[in-house]
Amino acid sequence: MVDTADKVRLVIVGYGGMGGHHSERLKNNSLYTIKGVYDIDPARGEAARKNGLKAYASYEEVCADKTVDAVLIATPNDLHPFYVGIFAAAGKNIVCEKPAANTSAEFEGMIAAAEKHKTVLTVHQNRRWDKDFITVRRVMDSGILGKALRVESRVTGGNGIPGGWRKLKKHGGGMMLDWGVHLIDQLCRLTSSPIGRLYCDYSYRQGHECEDGFELEMTFKNGLSAHVTVTTDSYLPQPRWFLYGQKGSATVTDWDCRGRIAVKREYDGEIKGIAAGNGFTKTMADLPDAAVAGYDLPDVETDYDRFYNNFAAACARREQSEVKNAEVLRVLKIMEAAKRSFEERAVICEGL
Ligand SMILES: NC(=O)c1ccc[n+]([C@@H]2O[C@H](COP(=O)([O-])OP(=O)(O)OC[C@H]3O[C@@H](n4cnc5c(N)ncnc54)[C@H](O)[C@@H]3O)[C@@H](O)[C@H]2O)c1
Repeated sequence: MVDTADKVRLVIVGYGGMGGHHSERLKNNSLYTIKGVYDIDPARGEAARKNGLKAYASYEEVCADKTVDAVLIATPNDLHPFYVGIFAAAGKNIVCEKPAANTSAEFEGMIAAAEKHKTVLTVHQNRRWDKDFITVRRVMDSGILGKALRVESRVTGGNGIPGGWRKLKKHGGGMMLDWGVHLIDQLCRLTSSPIGRLYCDYSYRQGHECEDGFELEMTFKNGLSAHVTVTTDSYLPQPRWFLYGQKGSATVTDWDCRGRIAVKREYDGEIKGIAAGNGFTKTMADLPDAAVAGYDLPDVETDYDRFYNNFAAACARREQSEVKNAEVLRVLKIMEAAKRSFEERAVICEGL
């Protein structure tokens, strides 16, 4: 289907917020030609035409167009399995937005469809290339904190769950499928260890049928523990990352990668106590400068085009997809375990 000498000729299916973002990102990528978009909403087709893109009248028209090599599916989540099945059968290579599907069983069907029709299927779990995450990985890999003991990953906002389909269960709404998928995917890249146990609590503080946030606690079999917080009703910033290691701590406070590393020094001097509320504490007093060495976070590079460039190479059968379907499936299964943990108020220990 794909002419390896040519660019990937791509149609974007679902030209909303993320479809528009992809089209902006790809318009200057020399490996791609955007053939057009298909969106069920005629207003989005009109918006595409205004942006100089062809608006296909139906998905059948996209399937029948022999000059289309690949599609990028950026519809609401519940439609991903349907479109992957349709476009795989038409022989198109596929990027599917995250979450790949609302359930792992659906995603298994999508993988089978792609295998049957020998097309590439990859999922846009793009936050592996986020700078804040790469900074965290670099700090952990550097060994400066000693053995990594605990990772806390937070994404917090004060704008509530976005409107429309993200509030509705039948479309795959809720913050676990929206943000959980990225944050769990990142944690699974920080260690190759299986998860030994997991507990999750969903929040419904804003009164929607879908969760507006969650708290997920996981302990990997190698002893590393991890906590993920997602909230949409936090009106003050919270640190994006906090790392505990045997020798020190680090924080990456925001998307711009501000933060600090602190490493314990040999110190047998006095710790001065402080007044703390209606009491006195040495335990919780700041460490004196002699007891801790501070370092800047490393300045890391990232390549936000890497996902697209890898997909183009995968279409030409020159590279394997970097986001592997087995990894995507595992994240979906972890999210299912988190949901079960919340519903049954249970610690889950199996199959993670
Ligand atoms: N990877 C990321 O960082 C990231 C970020 C945002 C969204 N997403 C994902 O992208 C997808 C789309 O999210 P969004 O924020 O762009 O949503 P959106 O609501 O802004 O856009 C969805 C578009 O799909 C269209 N659509 C609905 N039903 C359709 C159908 N049957 N056929 C064709 N088009 C249809 C809608 O008209 C709309 O234009 C979701 O899966 C979401 O999780 C990923």
